[in-house]
Amino acid sequence: MKQYYILTYGCQMNTYDSHLMELLLEEHGYVQAGDIEHADVVIVNTCAVREHAVKRVLSRIDSLKTLKRKNPSLRLGIAGCVPQQLKARITKKRPFVDFILGPDNLKDVVMCAQGASGLFVDLNDTPLYSDLYPANGDFPEAYVSVMRGCINFCSYCIVPYTRGKDKSRRIHDIKREVEKLALKGYKRIVLLGQNVNNYDDHEKRLPHLLSEIAHINAIERIGFLTSHPAFFPIEVIDVMKEEPKIEKCIHLPLQSGSSKILRRMNRIYTKDHYRELINEIRTRIDDIALTTDIIVGFPGETEDDFSETMEMVNGIRFDSAYMFQYSPRRFTLASTYCSSIDTETRMRRLHELIRVQSEITRQKSNASRGRILDVLIIGENEKNYLESNAISVYNKRIVVQGRFESGTIRKVRIIDVKGWTPVGKPLQEHE
Ligand code: SAH
Ligand code: SF4
Ligand code: F3S
Repeated sequence: MKQYYILTYGCQMNTYDSHLMELLLEEHGYVQAGDIEHADVVIVNTCAVREHAVKRVLSRIDSLKTLKRKNPSLRLGIAGCVPQQLKARITKKRPFVDFILGPDNLKDVVMCAQGASGLFVDLNDTPLYSDLYPANGDFPEAYVSVMRGCINFCSYCIVPYTRGKDKSRRIHDIKREVEKLALKGYKRIVLLGQNVNNYDDHEKRLPHLLSEIAHINAIERIGFLTSHPAFFPIEVIDVMKEEPKIEKCIHLPLQSGSSKILRRMNRIYTKDHYRELINEIRTRIDDIALTTDIIVGFPGETEDDFSETMEMVNGIRFDSAYMFQYSPRRFTLASTYCSSIDTETRMRRLHELIRVQSEITRQKSNASRGRILDVLIIGENEKNYLESNAISVYNKRIVVQGRFESGTIRKVRIIDVKGWTPVGKPLQEHE
């Protein structure tokens, strides 16, 4: 039997796309290789969101040249956002690569594995993989794509160029995939889209989708990613209150705390709008985790703009944040902006932001001491309590002392914090 091996980089959507390719290959008799050396087909699924990600992935691809030399019949492919952005530029210097698949050409994976070569990078405006159900994940958690693409064109972002227009998957297909996952024993589902707030299958929007998924028995936890502050449907909070399975966590990328920079980023909201949205959410539900993404060093970001970001971070007190320094992307509007910020300043601002946010994250973890929480066990606790093996309904990774079966829910009391991670002690029956 022919064996395949997929290396995945980038966001959760890329992980999902790799599962799509696995499904297609397995339907045609391929099996997963135990290691890359024994594979007949190797695919690198790539991310182009920042230059650093591209460099990393290209050097990994270049390292595969020796594999191809050792085994000339190996089929070597590159998939995902990097080839969609760079197209033939990527193969020019890499004649050892056999095939290139853009995010909307994954169905060609079988034909390419069987011998077709070349560049397959056509973006498509229809919800392409709606009726494919990979139903796969890192047990007991799985991602399920509910929409693909993005049409927001934030001025720094490559995604609209690599993934095309947004298109929602049919609710019937999403439910079918979640039901399959439930049958396989999966317990936590994360619904994915670059901008899930815009989910619209012409019948149902995000709040309805969440509530329908919550009705699928056996699924215990439901998360969703990513929300855009300009389009957040506040009714989601009402659904969250009605459905305890929906995680009390919203990932709401702020990107910058300066309205001037937000305008240059084409984010459509101002800092006041963002603050009002947070207040509205916290008024409707007092017990909710908020996480975010922030970019520092965007072209034209002055010390005052950066201070405004810090003020927002100190004022809102996010539970956690992904923080990046700006990376110019070819084709995007921001890459044409003058007034770029020098590397040293970008690094300084990033370190300052990380220092402040890390302290907030640590304080928030500390404040959870003594709390009793129902957590989902997601892994073995093999490494002596150093690695988190459970997740709370606030989407917080937790270390639970003792060994428990993956996929079960345990009541724990938070007794300690290691680094940023709360440590929970399981309650006894009588507690
Ligand atoms: N769809 C999501 C996430 C997109 S990419 C959203 O709208 O928020 C994930 C994060 O990467 C973004 O939120 C942003 O903070 C960061 N990012 C995207 N492009 C970037 C760039 N050119 N430079 C630095 N960070 C970037
Ligand atoms: Fe990129 Fe903006 Fe779309 Fe997010 S919403 S994927 S940051 S263009
Ligand atoms: Fe990267 Fe593409 Fe995802 S650029 S973040 S893999 S959508």
